[in-house]
Amino acid sequence: MSHINAHIEDQCLTITINRADKKNALTRDMYQDMAHAILSVKNDGSTKAIVIKGEGDCFTAGNDISDFAKQSEYANVPETSAFMRALAATELPVIAQVHGMAVGIGTTLLLHCDFVYATSDTRFVLPFINLGLVPEYASSYLLPRMVGHIKASEWLMLGEPFSANDAYQFGMLTKIVDETEIDSVVSTTVAKLVAKPAFSLRQTKALLKGENDRINQQMSEEFDIFLEALSAPAAQEAFDAFLKKRPINPEKFK
Ligand code: COA
Repeated sequence: MSHINAHIEDQCLTITINRADKKNALTRDMYQDMAHAILSVKNDGSTKAIVIKGEGDCFTAGNDISDFAKQSEYANVPETSAFMRALAATELPVIAQVHGMAVGIGTTLLLHCDFVYATSDTRFVLPFINLGLVPEYASSYLLPRMVGHIKASEWLMLGEPFSANDAYQFGMLTKIVDETEIDSVVSTTVAKLVAKPAFSLRQTKALLKGENDRINQQMSEEFDIFLEALSAPAAQEAFDAFLKKRPINPEKFK
């Protein structure tokens, strides 16, 4: 069974992450399905917006850690990259609808969206450093430009959760929305977007995102370091600890 639902309605592609029993942790198949969904509307001539959201009690708990733990296979697997590059390159406006937790790539991907609505109880976290990893998919470039070096350092070097209020205050969110209203707020924005002329909509986004070459370069640089970190003892210790539900052994996490 696929854990990604993708459907097009009223000129909007909605991608729903649907693996609630695992907190919507993302596997290779799920990245592949999301990449495919985004690429499939690239030239269909009618879709004008993309929504990404999660089923259950959170947006996503990030990359599936058991996939991370198989680092030698991961090094050869391009699904995550295919999804993130498709997301970063799409000409259509992307609206994220976030609730519960947005962990790791669940927060990273928001930096590539154009509208981000979150419920007030949402917790964001970029825990890479606590897993012996490094920032990914241009977050080390985009985040400081969005929130400033000092906040980006706190979020990326301490790897602690931060609130929707913090995220809003530092420019990561379009709006904080009540849980009961978030569906309709997102639908209203989608309806407004799809009513705009297609050429103007695409070109406005293209003009706003004139830095794609720099972003792709940063992604490549981060990826090399990320793969190195992934196979290092600190990361392997962190993954094993999570999967065995035990504390990290500080002797192995240096
Ligand atoms: N990868 C694989 N499985 C995950 C996961 C992940 N990223 N996040 C959650 N799960 C699984 C848990 O192992 C658990 O599985 P089980 O029921 O078979 O034991 C199930 O989802 C529920 O998670 P649980 O930890 O019990 O829920 P919680 O509400 O107590 O905590 C989180 C939620 C998101 C705070 C916690 O699951 C977590 O920290 N996950 C890891 C996040 C992470 O570090 N992601 C990688 C980012 S780079």
